[in-house]
Amino acid sequence: MTSRAAEGSEAPWTPSTILVTGGAGFVGSHACVELLEHGYEVIVVDDYSNSTPQVFTRMERIAGRFVGAVYELDIRDRHALSAVFDRHSVDAVVHFAAHKGPHRSTRMPVEYYDTNVGGTTALLGAMDEHGVHRLVYPSSCWVYGDAGRGPVDETTPPRPASPYAASKWICEQILTDVCRRRPEYTVLCLRYSIPAGAHPSGLLGEDPHAASISLVPYLAEVADGRRPRLEVFGDDYPTRDGTAIRDYLHVMDAVEAHRIALDHLADGPGMHVYNLGAGEGRSVLDVVTAFSRECGRPIPYDVGPRRPGDIAELVVDPTAVTRAWGWRPTRELDELCRDAWRFQRLNPHGYGDSAWGPNRKE
Ligand SMILES: NC(=O)c1ccc[n+]([C@@H]2O[C@H](COP(=O)([O-])OP(=O)(O)OC[C@H]3O[C@@H](n4cnc5c(N)ncnc54)[C@H](O)[C@@H]3O)[C@@H](O)[C@H]2O)c1
Repeated sequence: MTSRAAEGSEAPWTPSTILVTGGAGFVGSHACVELLEHGYEVIVVDDYSNSTPQVFTRMERIAGRFVGAVYELDIRDRHALSAVFDRHSVDAVVHFAAHKGPHRSTRMPVEYYDTNVGGTTALLGAMDEHGVHRLVYPSSCWVYGDAGRGPVDETTPPRPASPYAASKWICEQILTDVCRRRPEYTVLCLRYSIPAGAHPSGLLGEDPHAASISLVPYLAEVADGRRPRLEVFGDDYPTRDGTAIRDYLHVMDAVEAHRIALDHLADGPGMHVYNLGAGEGRSVLDVVTAFSRECGRPIPYDVGPRRPGDIAELVVDPTAVTRAWGWRPTRELDELCRDAWRFQRLNPHGYGDSAWGPNRKE
């Protein structure tokens, strides 16, 4: 990996030191491994409110390299962030640190706005102070809200319907405005669908102890007998089997896109928004069937009522990012379920009850 050239010089800009916020989390930990394996120097900040520092030894086992430095701090603490930029010559930032999950956010709207929006402005302040102007920002397909049937592309007007989705959309608007007023900024915003699955080693995955558990780790716990049954929220949607349709993206495909994004931070200034997803809708029952096949036993489930605010279908069209960067998802739903099941079998307690940091909320 070459080090970056000074801005404005002839040599092409290539990032070498990447600050990853929320790097201990589900997507962040997989992204750190991807970056380490591709020769980047990785600096992590995380407050462990939804993760554990135990992931770092696992990352190192996979990548065969250490994360350059890890700082336990709250992303809203601009002074603490500034001290990190003082110590490291950061070329670009990938900003995962956030509270996630639309349903949970309806119970904790203030916390979501505070962390997701306040954390992003604090980060931008510290970046600006240190002349760092390149950012990969993970947004969410939830910004689209209920956009109807079929894959949505980036021209679909956002209609966020939860504090989580609104917080992501507010951040997108802030970043768009910053880029408009400050031409030295490049922001690549990835509106992604539902990342799921696990690293094929079985060492990293989506810990079921994390807040806002999603369908795949829930299924893994049922398959393992740690939960009695899956509750399916509604089977009366206008979909092919009545259950809600979503777009599941293997986490390894997702983090490959983040690594490729770093190369494209040099393409030109401004805010560039891309969907990141499989582009294919899968119903809850499709995922139950695929997971049952991979774990070799039927997953018992009950059908309950719809969750308030839930929608029938949300699938993103990733054509634009494929055209721009050549990235496309390569892993099927079966592989996603197989990797998630391997993580569950090898880590029946996730990263372990005692592993969770002191900052866990709820
Ligand atoms: N997982 C999804 O379904 C999904 C979908 C679309 C977008 N995203 C986005 O991707 C990003 C990562 O998601 P994830 O699934 O890895 O979530 P995660 O909760 O596993 O990871 C987030 C990390 O940020 C940390 N964090 C939270 N608040 C913090 C704070 N105030 N200061 C410092 N660190 C803090 C958590 O401890 C955790 O390690 C988020 O920005 C999320 O909005 C996730």
